[in-house]
Amino acid sequence: MRQAVGEELPPGPQLPRALQSCLLWRWPFEYLEQSSDRYGSRFTLRATSRPPLVFLSDPADVKAMFAAPAEVLHPGEGGAIIAPIVGERSFMLRDEEEHLEGRKRMLPGFHSKLVRRHRELVVKVAQREVASWPREVSFALHPPLRALTLEIVLRTIFGASGRPDDRCLYALRDRLLAMLAVTGSAVFPEPLLRHGPGRRIWERFLRTRAEVDRLLYAIIEDRACANGRSEGLLDRLLEACNADGSPISARQVRDDLMSVILAGHETTAAELAWAFQLLAHHPTVLEKLIGEIDEGAEEEYLTATIQEVLRHRPVFLFTIPRAVKQPIVLGGWTYRPPTQLLGCIYLLHHDPLLYPEPQEFRPERFLETGPAAYTWLPWGGGRKRCPGLHLAMLELKTVLRTVLASVTVLPAGRRIEHPRWRSVIVTPHAGSRVVLHRRR
Ligand code: HEM
Repeated sequence: MRQAVGEELPPGPQLPRALQSCLLWRWPFEYLEQSSDRYGSRFTLRATSRPPLVFLSDPADVKAMFAAPAEVLHPGEGGAIIAPIVGERSFMLRDEEEHLEGRKRMLPGFHSKLVRRHRELVVKVAQREVASWPREVSFALHPPLRALTLEIVLRTIFGASGRPDDRCLYALRDRLLAMLAVTGSAVFPEPLLRHGPGRRIWERFLRTRAEVDRLLYAIIEDRACANGRSEGLLDRLLEACNADGSPISARQVRDDLMSVILAGHETTAAELAWAFQLLAHHPTVLEKLIGEIDEGAEEEYLTATIQEVLRHRPVFLFTIPRAVKQPIVLGGWTYRPPTQLLGCIYLLHHDPLLYPEPQEFRPERFLETGPAAYTWLPWGGGRKRCPGLHLAMLELKTVLRTVLASVTVLPAGRRIEHPRWRSVIVTPHAGSRVVLHRRR
């Protein structure tokens, strides 16, 4: 067992913490690749305001990490960075029994059968939004994609038949977009910056968060008093109880709703933004995809294209960190508190032994054999595995089909955009600038 004095964790860069934070923030792909080239499939990064982070990219290590007992690894604690948005009581930030209870309240709403019922809604919102996008000029797709995915998630949460009315829903959507602007700033992951030059950004966030909360609590109260029930997540939360039988508090409802709002729209919008970047820069793939969409019968190539987008540009470069609570042995190393472990999705997806020529964007690699367990992890895994993946797949397919039915996508720059952090995910740094060109 490797556990020598002075060598308690897998080796990693010896740079000062602030510099490591900076490199991970500014050049995440390069910093992860260089670290794995130098130190292998397990290395330790040390960032500011964080315990040591051990990055794992050996499928066996990642599998064992996902399978660890709930009391040994705490992903709720490891995800604390999003607490200012989702709130301390969010089920995402809980561990063990409380986390499981929270997931049980959410999961039925995202079951594949129920998600199929949202198809019409997704098509309607996508068609309306896409029709309003400019043609023949370069523009950044990410902002309208965020508005689109946010509207979809809000409508699925509140249900089709109940309140709020559209005016209220759009007011909430616009305040949420303003509030979440903070996630693009380094002030978000680094609390130290909130007191210096970043103070104004943080104060603006706190102000917009208060406005969002006012709107959300009004909707929660309104629905709690209403007689009619719809199939939305909000009604299910209002009917839910704590383990002791007491109803869950309005604060808890707010925090759970905000968790789904955050996790459910930023991710899908970012993945769509990458999909359009990759397609614009790979005209052969684009042409083949348009051919399949025009034929209208199959979606084999569309599915493979989305799987390849999720492999090539996973928006989560790594899983939510798992805080070690009790010593655990993985791959010959013993990890102890306060270390945090994370599965490095980006490195797994770019391992040439798992994916030959990993930097190539080639949907064909998934045509014959679909993605394999523990090497393709865009949804993470274990007890944190993304519960929204069916809704996300429906949105990805619908938006790509809707757009490509009438336009083709041209690149606005010479290269695919670099990544840029937004909270815990990465998006194209210039917002995925493209030109939508009318098809004949
Ligand atoms: C392309 C879009 C999406 C991607 C790539 C994605 C990916 C992920 C990943 C990697 C995790 C963390 C898993 C882990 O650490 O093991 C996660 C968690 C989560 N996702 Fe998604 N997601 C997407 C869309 C959605 C949607 C549409 C929803 C809901 C409407 C959603 C809701 C959630 C929630 C609630 C969690 C936290 C689960 C928990 O704490 O147990 N996601 N997602």
